[in-house]
Amino acid sequence: MDIFRGKAVLVTGAAGGIGAAIVRQLRSEGARVAVADRDVAGIEAEAHLPGDLLDTGYADSLPKAAFQALRGLDIVVNNAGVITRGTVTNTTDADWSLSLGVNVEAPFRICRAAIPILAAEGGGAIVNVASCWGIRPGPDHAIYCMTKAAIASLTQCMGMDHAHQNIRVNAVCPNEVNTPMLRTGFLKRGFDPNTAVAELGKTVPLGRIAEPEDIADVVLFLASDAARYMCGSLVEVNGGKAVG
Ligand SMILES: NC(=O)c1ccc[n+]([C@@H]2O[C@H](COP(=O)([O-])OP(=O)(O)OC[C@H]3O[C@@H](n4cnc5c(N)ncnc54)[C@H](O)[C@@H]3O)[C@@H](O)[C@H]2O)c1
Repeated sequence: MDIFRGKAVLVTGAAGGIGAAIVRQLRSEGARVAVADRDVAGIEAEAHLPGDLLDTGYADSLPKAAFQALRGLDIVVNNAGVITRGTVTNTTDADWSLSLGVNVEAPFRICRAAIPILAAEGGGAIVNVASCWGIRPGPDHAIYCMTKAAIASLTQCMGMDHAHQNIRVNAVCPNEVNTPMLRTGFLKRGFDPNTAVAELGKTVPLGRIAEPEDIADVVLFLASDAARYMCGSLVEVNGGKAVG
């Protein structure tokens, strides 16, 4: 299949679990992809744009850099994210700045810079990776949940505000996904990641937690013409396991 033939795509968090799957699947569907992450060495892609999303100048300049490197820009996937654990009373200033910076401010800056570029090209699609915890919060991750609610809300706002420019903005909201983010969380708490992932899978009606490809498929759908009438949607991908 070649559903993204001729399309130019920017993907952040491209070195992570979900990001790597998104990049692989986009390229296998014919897209030209610019990958952004702190370290993009070794990722197969048409353009490499390494940097730290906490650097506001880097985030502001990414869409233009992708446009120049790929000679076009049709789709932006804001996938990079960080998770901090804890209630409000055990959240440090550093956790706050990191979470807000990567999960909210960076996608805001990237969208703000990308929308005029996409509009000048006749339109395009933005897919944000939020979380089902951004729709209904889970326990002991107050700031993470808040940031994911913020990007979910921003997605709904941008979906409304920029549809008239033929720019569709939507978000995918996964529940637990088998990636380094989840596995390092288990390790930090002294659990064996393989055992913990298997145990967690038993709590999901479908019988397993998501693999990165399960999420990437939905990102590709939202980025594709098959989702041409979707603007500002928050799509939960949870194997039947709702939060709360
Ligand atoms: N894994 C899950 O269970 C899960 C569930 C719901 C939502 N999500 C969301 O999915 C997205 C992808 O997460 P993942 O599970 O693949 O995690 P991951 O940790 O494997 O990947 C995240 C990527 O973001 C990059 N990143 C983080 N901070 C950065 C910075 N300052 N500058 C540049 N890049 C930076 C990391 O280097 C990493 O490659 C995130 O937005 C996450 O919140 C994940």
